[in-house]
This record gives sequence, structure tokens and C-alpha cells, in this order.
Amino acid sequence: MQERNTFYITTPIYYPSGHMHIGHTYTTVAADTMARFKKMTGHQVYFLTGTDEHGQKIERSAQESGVAPQQFVDEIVAQTKQLWELMNIKYDNFIRTTDEHHMKAVQRIFQRLYETGDIYKDAYEGQYCVPCEAFWTASQMKEGNLCPDCSRPTELVREESYFLRMSKYQDWLIQYIEEHPNFIQPPSRAKEMLQNFLKPGLQDLSISRTSFSWGVPVPFDPEHVIYVWIDALSNYITALGYSSGEEELMDTFWPADVQLVGKEITRFHTIYWPIILKALGLPLPKQIFAHGWLLFNDDKMSKSKGNVVYPGPVIKRYGADALRYYLMREMLFGSDGNYTNQAMMTRVNSDLANDLGNLLSRTVAMIEKYFDGVIQATGTYEQVDLDLITLLEALPKKVEEEMNALQFSQALSEIWKVIGASNRYIDLTEPWVLGRSEEGKERLRTVLYVLAESLRYISILIYPVMPSTPQKMFSQLGISDERLQNWGSLDRFGQTPAGQRVSKGEAIFPRIDIKADLPGLEAENAAEHVKSNPAAADASKVKKPAVPLIAIEDFQKIQLVTAKVLACEKVKKSDKLLKFHLKVGEEERTVLSGIAEHYEPEALIGRSLVLLANLPPRKIRGIESEGMLLSAASEDESMLRLLFVDEGIDDGAGIA
Ligand code: MSP
Repeated sequence: MQERNTFYITTPIYYPSGHMHIGHTYTTVAADTMARFKKMTGHQVYFLTGTDEHGQKIERSAQESGVAPQQFVDEIVAQTKQLWELMNIKYDNFIRTTDEHHMKAVQRIFQRLYETGDIYKDAYEGQYCVPCEAFWTASQMKEGNLCPDCSRPTELVREESYFLRMSKYQDWLIQYIEEHPNFIQPPSRAKEMLQNFLKPGLQDLSISRTSFSWGVPVPFDPEHVIYVWIDALSNYITALGYSSGEEELMDTFWPADVQLVGKEITRFHTIYWPIILKALGLPLPKQIFAHGWLLFNDDKMSKSKGNVVYPGPVIKRYGADALRYYLMREMLFGSDGNYTNQAMMTRVNSDLANDLGNLLSRTVAMIEKYFDGVIQATGTYEQVDLDLITLLEALPKKVEEEMNALQFSQALSEIWKVIGASNRYIDLTEPWVLGRSEEGKERLRTVLYVLAESLRYISILIYPVMPSTPQKMFSQLGISDERLQNWGSLDRFGQTPAGQRVSKGEAIFPRIDIKADLPGLEAENAAEHVKSNPAAADASKVKKPAVPLIAIEDFQKIQLVTAKVLACEKVKKSDKLLKFHLKVGEEERTVLSGIAEHYEPEALIGRSLVLLANLPPRKIRGIESEGMLLSAASEDESMLRLLFVDEGIDDGAGIA
């Protein structure tokens, strides 16, 4: 059978209850990476993402913000699209469940399932958790009728409801999952679904509500709105025009090849969704891949817990490719992992600035130094060359295998092994020694050619994860011919033509000064959190992002002392910096502080300030700064105020 050449991939559609954070970004980057990889390897790709806009939670968030639900979601959707653009996400379709075509199709789906007898009307009573939009049984709830997921109180809800006849499909689904081991990935999730939900027996599912109105009305009973999961799950086919009369996309792309979901919504996608499709007479997606969570201090990040990291500040400082790389590299797809900005910065420095960035800059610099920037024809290859060439020629296939299994981290690890081998190749061949003699220079032609060609391979292979970096690399390597930039050109080593001219450019990933950058990045994240929660427009309602508690011993590590200003002046050619000469007990210190826009230097002479005294000294603009003066910032950071100590305390006094 000929392999199908189309590829349909989806992300979950996200709740627009606040701005998207790094967890949503994770799934979306994975889908985009996969879509780019498939396109690059010759597939006709359709990549769908979007937003899940109905339901009581959104309705309430909108009420709290004092705006209509539609306006509320419109704003967040606009922000979401901007974020995806910043992240370089190239989706083919962004579906919103408030799109009219979607709502009409959902009504047709509901009608059809009612007619086939898969949906029926009954009454329902149960404890309901509004934020999680889930009913819970007595045995599932925590003591005091608390939601087992979020620990908030549930409400007793009794209402008439339409139900989906799940029980009818239970045996069929068990058999299907058992016969299709690739359907649910990773396999541990399939086991979990079978053991915890399917084998104990499925309850029919309540799929309509009368308790709120922000949703798609049941077409023949408008008191009821269609409860979110039918509305939401259907997006994957309504986006392709299902039941609209124009079903070309449906014919081309359904069934989906891979549907990515976070592990907490596996059940909806591997039990409800297949049953809906089966009842509609449609084939099931080939694979549902449930990935793990990005954790924050081992706890799931979530908007409602306020412990969220936002991608905006990271992208602005280090670019989307650095973040995309980190997300795809750090965690095995399928497992959980902690996200910290510090770990991200450390990896960017080691893998991108050092390993990749240096390989490029050293290679280009050497071609410029020894051959006026012109790539030379090779001589005979030696064993050391052939070893690297063999690795390079084997690499595309390895990467392809890992990518097809959605093992992004492994694919990158394979690429980085070859980057490591290329750096070692420089150490082994010692170009700086070869460059000293005429004979050595002959050999050097080949060495530098091998390195340039290795970088061409690497540029192409990193593209799906880091779409902006290859062009920067090609431009330094002088590769403008598109045929040398595509997957097909990885079939054979040695396609870079001799005579091509390289040109050194800026560092593709400048080294991050982690200590200096971290506080600013965390502060920007906290500011983003406040901005990102329109539901709590009143800032007092916003929970500050959780800062981990520290032990008193941690605080005792910080040496805060009073410091008297002996002299103070502006730093030349800087608008922001003041240079302080301080007396701290027996000692005198020079400290720079970024508050020149807020104080006249003369006015500070003689005043007593608070100094963080045990930071390592740091050079700023050539001046060594020995500590940090504390100041407070207004919420929008437009105003800074130094902390002064009242009279009567000597300089050098401890502060606790
Ligand atoms: N609207 C539903 C999905 C309906 S799909 C038919 C929903 N939305 S959500 O806004 O809560 O987004 C959930 C998805 O975002 C998760 O399934 C996951 O893909 C992603 N993530 C959100 N937080 C995450 C982490 N902390 N870590 C990794 N991914 C996470 O559920």
C-alpha cells in the first residue's frame, strides 16, 4: 500500500480564560515542529489549533471583568494569535468554537446523534466543579465535597440533560484500543484508560446544560446548551468542513494523523472522542499522543494557581528559537518535567551559544582567516574526515525516525551528538597548526570544507524546531541556493560548492549572563501575569505568582547593611547609571545603580542607603560594582525609589 502523503495534526483548543502560558506554548510548539518536519519531508500538511470559548467558566470570567463573553474571548484570542506569531507558529487554521460555521456544524452533529438514538434526554443530579467543568461522584470527591482535581468546593446541580450513550460502545472501544497499539501513545496511557475507565464500565455522559447560556443551543430544545466536550471535540472535524456540504478538506485530511493533548485530557480524547466519531460513522484518528506537563516546583502550572511562566519575556530577550529549542529538548515527549528560567538559560548557553554558536563562528572565522572567506575544494579525505562524514550521512534517517515517533528531545540529542563530534573534529585536526605551513594549508582546505558542509547539514536538520536560525547560518555560510537548504540535499555529503564565500555575522545565540538577567526576567514574568488575567482586572484580585517559601537560613545568606553616600555622580554615556562611592563601616565601596533617571546625584550625598553587600563584584561599563543598592519600583516600573535608613544608625550596620 502506498503511504499516504497527507499529514493532519492538531493541538487541543485552549480555553481563552487568560493569556496562554508556557504550558500551552509547549503543545503548540510540538505541533508546529511536527508540521514543519512533515512539510519539509514532502507531506501535504494541515495543522489546526484554536480556542475553546464556551462554558460557564468563561461566562463567569467575562462577568467578573464586566464585559460580554464575546468581547472577553475576542481580546484573548487576539493576544493568543499574536503570541503564536511571536513563537513562529505557522498553523493552517485557527478554529474558534464561537465561529458560526463551527456552531452550526455542532448543532448538526447533535441532531444527527439524537436521530440515531445515541443521544437521549434524562435528568441528572450531581456535585459539579465549576472551574474544572466536571461532575464528581461521592467516592471521587475529597472530604467536604471538594473537587479532587482543584480542591475547591463543588456545587450540587440538578438538571435535565441530554446524554450520550457511551455504554453501548464500551466493548467495541476496548477491542479497538487493544487491536491498535499505536492509537494511544505513550502506551502507559492506553493501559490507564483501559484499567481505570473502560474496564470498570462507562457511564452515559451528560452533554447539555440549562444552568448557563454561553454555548451552542441544542437545535430542537434551545433551553439547553451543548456542554463543552461535544462542542470542543467536534472542532477537529468542523474545521475541515464536516457536514457543511464542502468537504474537500475532510476528504483529504480526515482521519487525523496525530492529535496532541496534555495528559489530563487523555480521557476525553481517547474515550469520548472515539465514541462520538464511531456514532457518526467516521474513522478514528490514527494517534492520540498525550504528553506530560511542564511543572513549576513539581506542581502543574496553571492560571488559577498563579504559578505560571509566560513565554513573552523569554522570547523578547532570547528569541523564539531559544525557547522552542529548550521546550523540545529538555523533556522527553510524554513525560513531565520542571520548567525554570534558570535551567532554560543554562541550556541555551551550553547547547546554543557554546556548542552550536561556537562551531559556526569558529568555522566561518577560520575560512575568513586562512582562505579570505572562500570555501575551498577538498583533497583526499582522511579517516578523521570519513568518521565525521559517516556520522553526518547517517543523521537524517535517525532524526526522521525520532521525529516520526514524536521524540523531539531524542532527535535533537542525535543532532547535538554530531555538533559535538564536529567540535571535537576541530580539536583533532588542529586547524591553527595546519594554518602555519603551506603543506598544512593544503590539508586545511579539506578540514574547513568538512566543517562547512557539516554546518549545512545541521542547519537543515534543526529547522523544524528552530525555524529562524537556519537562515542566519546559511547567510554566514554563504548558502543562498535553496536546493542546498532542503531535506533532499541531505542525501549526500559534499554538495556545498567550492568557491562559495562565507561572511561572519553576529553570534547566532549570544551568551546569557544568567545572574544579571534572571531577576529582570522574573520581574517581567510577574508583570505579565498581572496583565494576563483580564478576569481579575482589579489587581488586588490577582494572586501574585507563587514565589517559593524560603528557610530563614536562606535569608541569613543575604548580607544587608547600611551604607553612607560619600560621593555620587552620573556614569558617562549612560542615561540610567549612577556611580556611588559608599562608606560601609571600615570599608569603602564603589556601587553602580540604575536610578539616574530618578535622582539628582548631589541630593544623595550624605544619605544612608540599604546595600546588598555580599554579591560578587560585577563589571558594568568597565567599572567594578561591589554590591547592589535596594530600591522599590512602582507597579508599571516607571518610578524607582531608593530605600533610605532613618537617622541615628551608623554605616555598616546590619539589617534583618
Ligand atoms: N479546552 C480544553 C481542551 C479541549 S480540546 C477539544 C482545555 N483547554 S486548556 O486551555 O486547559 O489547555 C489544555 C492544554 O494545554 C493541555 O492539554 C496541554 O496541551 C496544554 N497545557 C496547559 N498547561 C500545561 C502544562 N503545564 N504543561 C504542558 N502542557 C500544558 O483543556
